[in-house]
Amino acid sequence: MEAKKIQVALLGLGTVGTGVYKVLERQKEEMLAKIGVELEIRRILVRNLEKAAAKVKDPGILTNDWKTIIEDESIDIVIEVMGGLEPARTYMLEALKAGKNVVTANKDLMATNGRELMDTAKAAGRDLLFEAAVAGGIPIIRPLKQCLAGNHIEEVIGIVNGTTNFILTKMTEENMEFQEALDLATELGYAEADPTADIEGLDAARKMAILASIAFNSRVTFDDVYTEGITKVTARDIRYAKEMGCHIKLLGKARNTEEGIEVSVHPMLIDSRHPLASVNDSFNAVFVKGDAVGDTMFYGRGAGELPTASAIVGDVFDVARNMLSGCTGRISCTCYKSLPIKKMADINSRYFMRLQVDDRPGVLAAVTSVFGNNNVSIEQFIQKRKKGDLAEIVVITEEVVERNFNDSLRILETMSMIKDISAVIRVY
Ligand code: NAP
Ligand code: HSE
Repeated sequence: MEAKKIQVALLGLGTVGTGVYKVLERQKEEMLAKIGVELEIRRILVRNLEKAAAKVKDPGILTNDWKTIIEDESIDIVIEVMGGLEPARTYMLEALKAGKNVVTANKDLMATNGRELMDTAKAAGRDLLFEAAVAGGIPIIRPLKQCLAGNHIEEVIGIVNGTTNFILTKMTEENMEFQEALDLATELGYAEADPTADIEGLDAARKMAILASIAFNSRVTFDDVYTEGITKVTARDIRYAKEMGCHIKLLGKARNTEEGIEVSVHPMLIDSRHPLASVNDSFNAVFVKGDAVGDTMFYGRGAGELPTASAIVGDVFDVARNMLSGCTGRISCTCYKSLPIKKMADINSRYFMRLQVDDRPGVLAAVTSVFGNNNVSIEQFIQKRKKGDLAEIVVITEEVVERNFNDSLRILETMSMIKDISAVIRVY
């Protein structure tokens, strides 16, 4: 008897789409034994048929017409790996409404239109899975939704962008300045031609919106995430951080507090003994604190053809199993709360600050009195070096309310004895 087949369609055949094609081909032999069914790629949607033809065994499955997929009743699973908001959003909504299950890697879309898509999947009783949308090949969405479901998650901190982690690693280990490290990342293919989304923290912010929503069971969107990139971090800041026993990393930080959700992406000094400090190069990691499990860390490749395809194919296998058991749509949206998002000004942080000041008596006292008058306690105050008439000082604050720190900053900016505020970086 011929084995039962589930038909899938791929939307997009770029980096990730090609990886999915390869992994499904690799798994062909074992698939029946593994999940009890064979999966067949029936159609692949591309823009340029000629360009895509070289990537597949049978160019006959390529199409540039969405209708041939949405109107094909034999297609059960649509794998969206085109990226962008539109037409990906419309295609996914149409696919769900037509009774197809959807697997996607699209963090941009899930971080902005996640609720609409999840609600549509729920109404249709279909699966919408997106493990690859956060940290590529690292399993984190399924662990949060399922394995850790018995926890109250208190905090999720992540290095969720490989490009910026590669850049900061080069700045740390080889004393490169930001631009040199970015150029190297571009040369090696880590950074895209337009690296804005990575270096300005936007890519990480999308992933943190998705993680916070799932971890805290309350919808967080991209616009809710306070975001700063790494373009202002210098090799000198990294060197000083090292002297203090810290690394500088671009951290996504989400906390579930009694007053609401704190969610942000920005560079941070982190103690070199923390497991996240040793996550280097283009690797990603997500650190989760749960009230029952304690500390857990998920580590691996956050991007790339095959690591990302690994997550997608895992989702596709899950959908296939659910279809065979007649239980698609089993785990839909888990945002059953509606928690407020805290303003950054109300959040408590420690700060590292580097200043160039006039090298004369009374200056340090004036700086400390600004902090004191604004309720900012200082943990360390270090004079680093003298250059001509200027002295460089580094201040580390204790945990302070951001509003108070910002008030101090505004006053310091107006003081003629302060020549430059060279760095302001939060400390984890
Ligand atoms: P990519 O290399 O640019 O591939 C996108 C593919 O989709 C291309 O084949 C493109 O065709 C096709 N496409 C785009 N718009 C289309 C349209 N309107 N109709 C038909 N085909 C269309 O992108 P990618 O790196 O594979 O990323 C895909 C998705 O995965 C994105 O959502 C991304 O955020 C996510 N993701 C990527 C990674 C990674 O490592 N790359 C990791 C995690 C998640 P043309 O080539 O003809 O333009
Ligand atoms: N550009 C991302 C990164 C990969 O550097 O991690 C896609 O999410």
